[in-house]
Amino acid sequence: QIRNLEKQFEERIARDEKIEPKDWMPEKYRQTHIRQMSQHAHSEVVGMLPEGNWITRAPSLRRKVALLAKVQDEAGHGLYLYSATETLGITREEMYEQLHTGKAKYSSIFNYPTVTWADMGAIGWLVDGAAIINQVPLCSTSFGPYARAMVRVCKEESFHQRQGYEIMIKLANGTPEQKEMAQDALNRWWWPSLMMLGPTDAESVHTEQSMKWKLKRKSNDELRQQFIDQTVPQADLIGLTIPDADLKWNEERGSYDFGEIDWDEFWQVVKGHGPMNKERMKARVGAWERGEWVRDAAMAHAEKKAERKEK
Ligand code: ACO
Repeated sequence: QIRNLEKQFEERIARDEKIEPKDWMPEKYRQTHIRQMSQHAHSEVVGMLPEGNWITRAPSLRRKVALLAKVQDEAGHGLYLYSATETLGITREEMYEQLHTGKAKYSSIFNYPTVTWADMGAIGWLVDGAAIINQVPLCSTSFGPYARAMVRVCKEESFHQRQGYEIMIKLANGTPEQKEMAQDALNRWWWPSLMMLGPTDAESVHTEQSMKWKLKRKSNDELRQQFIDQTVPQADLIGLTIPDADLKWNEERGSYDFGEIDWDEFWQVVKGHGPMNKERMKARVGAWERGEWVRDAAMAHAEKKAERKEK
């Protein structure tokens, strides 16, 4: 019986049919989606913190409005993704608990500090740029709710990337100090942005199976190369220098060769020892605790309303 179901499931994947929450699926397929989608949701939610740090200090009203909208979009992506993950049979409370106790991972990139306004430009340009490259293939991922969520998320990410790059254009064409600030932000965010796309294919434990299930459509290294090839000309265009002495166009491959990524740093950050891991968790857990009275009040109100209806 199970064999038959598995066979039918694999045939559906081969036909590029979407798998929906109530359809039969192998337990490992379910678990791997819960893992990736919840990590993704956590990343969106924790990802609000580095930029939230600059909303009150944005240099103009226009910049403030754009940044505020972007951070709100990230909250929306997180909630959307938590809902999509819940369709697989895990509760939101369980996911929050995994995040708050440090059991769940979220993207390494959000464990770096945002020290100048130019970091808002670099994050939009590089981090959201890498996110789009990672997420466009996810629009055709095999699990229906995840694929549909990604269509909307990618549209918004595209606005995020443009607002970031536009900040960089302005700074790069500004005073020498402003240009220096933009270059400094690029220097600090470049390598973490490359790491964001995950370990090398050789080190990636999940890629092979996830590609078979069409959860992943492209490997980590493929996405990284695509990100580099897309971003280097954008840096050239605004006169900024990618901080990689080994970066070189490879005519034969039609791609850029690039330098060694510091994978020790990556794993340190993933394991909780990055520059901002503790602060990020403190902020999330604190927000959860401070919100307790709101959740209690909402529950009490809902109960009262239900009681009144009964009478
Ligand atoms: N930060 C933290 N952990 C990471 C990162 C990263 N940048 N990259 C990989 N890892 C973790 C994986 O979660 C996995 O850990 P686990 O087994 O405990 O779950 C481990 O390192 C090994 O990596 P892979 O085998 O390559 O894992 P996977 O196949 O899931 O690929 C990837 C990682 C590319 C991030 C994938 O999960 C993905 O595409 N996720 C959806 C997109 C996403 O989450 N983006 C977050 C940032 S985008 C944003 O929020 C704006």
